[in-house]
Formats: sequence, C-alpha cells, structure tokens
Amino acid sequence: MELLDKIKSNAQRIKKRIVLPEAWEERTLRAADQIIQEELAQVFLTEKREVILNEAAKLCLRNIEQAVIVDPASHPKKEAYADLMVELRKSKGMTKDEAMRLLDNPLYLATLMIKAGDADGEVAGANNATGDVLRPAFQYVKTLPGISVVSGAFLMIMPDKKWGDDGLMIFADCAVHPDPTARELAEIAVCTARTAKNIAEMEPRVALLSFSTKGSAQHEMVAKVASATEIAQQMAPEFQFDGELQADAAIVESIGKKKCPDSPIAGKANVLVFPSLEAGNIAYKLVQRLANAEAIGPVLQGMAAPINDLSRGCSVSDIVNLVAITANQAAGKY
Ligand code: ACO
Repeated sequence: MELLDKIKSNAQRIKKRIVLPEAWEERTLRAADQIIQEELAQVFLTEKREVILNEAAKLCLRNIEQAVIVDPASHPKKEAYADLMVELRKSKGMTKDEAMRLLDNPLYLATLMIKAGDADGEVAGANNATGDVLRPAFQYVKTLPGISVVSGAFLMIMPDKKWGDDGLMIFADCAVHPDPTARELAEIAVCTARTAKNIAEMEPRVALLSFSTKGSAQHEMVAKVASATEIAQQMAPEFQFDGELQADAAIVESIGKKKCPDSPIAGKANVLVFPSLEAGNIAYKLVQRLANAEAIGPVLQGMAAPINDLSRGCSVSDIVNLVAITANQAAGKY
C-alpha cells in the first residue's frame, strides 16, 4: 500500500476530531466535504453556521452538514477558554478581556479547543501566514515533555527509488526554527526520527548534515552539529544517529564507505537533519523541483498536540492529506 493510503486508512480507523479554522475558505470547505465523505476525521469548522451552509450550498458540497460547526462569536465554552488562557498566560499579563477578544480569532479558538480536550488536532494556513498559525499553538498547546522546539518535517517521495527507503526520505527542519542551538538541533533530530518511525513507518537512519564529514573541516558550525549528534543519541538511544556528515557522505554508499567506513548511517541515511532552517527549506524545495520529488508536509513535530500549517498555495488534496496526517499524529503517532 502507498504511504498516503496507509496514513488515510489509519485515519479512517481512529476518526479523530480535527478543527479547520479557515472554514469560510473555498479550498478548506471543499477539503472538509471530502474528509467527511472519506471518513478521515470528525470535522470541526469555526464560523457562523449560516455562512458555512450558504457557501457549501453554492459549491454543491453535500457532506458539510455533517461537520460540527462552532461560531467563535457565541461558542458556549468561550468564557471557560478565556479563563484557561488567563491561567496559562498570567505571567505574560493576559487579561480576561484580552482573552475574550483573542477567542474571536478562529486560530486562537481552535488552539484552545485542543488545549481544553474538545478537539484532537488542527490544520490551518491556507489563508494565514505561518507565524499567525503557530503563535497561538506555541503559546497554549506548547511542546512535548523533553522537547523545547517545534520543527517541520517533509516526507519526500522521490521518483528515483534508489534514495532512502524505496525513494522515501524525511527532511527537517524545513519550516519553523531558523537557527537552532546544538541542544535544539538534537531535539529536532529526535522528533524527526519519531516522525519517520510513527508516520512514515520506517526504521530511521538519521544523518545530521554539515559542510564537513567527521572533522574534515573545523568550524563552530561543524562543532555544533557534532555536538547535536551526541546529544540526540543520548536522548533517544533507540534510534541511530550519525554526524556531522556532508550530504553526499550521508546518501551515496560509495562516498559514505570511503569517508567514514565505520558509520552505520553514512551512505544509507533515510532521514536528513539540516543545520539551519535556511539549509532545510532550500534543500527540500530544490529536491522537489530538480528531482521531481513529492513533498508532503510540513508535518509539525514536537508540539504537545498536533497542529499543522499549510502553505497558502495549497490545494484541496494537500489539506485532505494533512488532515489525515494530523489524525495519525493525534493517535500518539508522533
Ligand atoms: N518551538 C516552540 N516554541 C517556539 C518556537 C519553536 N520553534 N519558536 C518560538 N516559540 C515560542 C516562544 O518561546 C514564545 O513563547 P512565549 O510567548 O510563551 O514566550 C512564542 O513562541 C513566541 O515567540 P517569538 O520568539 O515571539 O516567535 P515569533 O512569534 O516571532 O516567531 C515563528 C515564531 C513565526 C514560528 C518564527 O520562528 C518564524 O517565522 N519561523 C519561520 C517560519 C517560516 O517562515 N518558515 C518558512 C516557510 S514554511 C515553508 O516553506 C514550508
């Protein structure tokens, strides 16, 4: 079975509650209709009921009536959510008035629904910038125990099956944290190994990349990646990490053998961890364009509950796929 089919079939089995806070948006509404039709999740839409139903009627979307529609202006738990926000952000000076005002924004409402246990996950970003989707998530849902940074992984499906596991590789961080410290980079490596194992169902062989292989160059950036590798291995002894490695030493068997013959990862890495967001974001886009790879994601990892951010250029099927992935993550698969 193809990876996405597996992810969708898991989602159908577990039927998680996923909020789509950009419900008035045509692609989101079309995706919601398809998600309900394919029974991938229980869909929560945050908008006035008549707005959603009118729009759905215009677009001939017959399944939308089965969504749970919650109006941010009159949500019955709004006061309780505002109290929770004040409690969680009192050190930052959050007041009840400010919290009530923020809850008119569906992105905050969705996050609080998750925090309060009234929903399992969220997908947004078709019409909002990354920062606007992530900020409420960072502030209220926060990170998993032992993890301090959220990062974004891409499942890269290469037409050339010689790379990774039958053409499948995982790249991170390509989406969130611009300049990680060694400890943060180690956390990103551990989270990416978990994403590889739990979402892509692969046995991760994680390479932490640099412009140097095992001390071939001396620089503080190289030392950071070497140190991150050690920390990652201590944090997650159940996975295999190696670094610092150059990209060719990580993925080309003959070069891996030549440059570091004792490495269990060199030449056969299926997970690539980049030293900075610049490197990761550039790398995934180049591989997507130059190698015609399909890039699924970003799958946000390290958050205490799954919240995923779409690109504003996303298609209906991108939203449907990310909802299925989010549902898998909500089942503890992250
Ligand atoms: N993980 C967890 N928490 C974080 C992270 C992170 N990576 N980054 C910031 N936070 C927390 C902070 O600790 C802070 O929490 P607090 O309010 O409780 O103290 C809160 O989030 C806000 O922190 P700021 O430093 O003010 O962060 P800001 O909101 O300015 O920026 C953001 C966060 C938007 C994610 C920023 O790091 C960013 O812009 N990243 C790049 C995103 C991007 O443009 N990606 C490329 C495009 S995506 C693509 O191509 C697929």
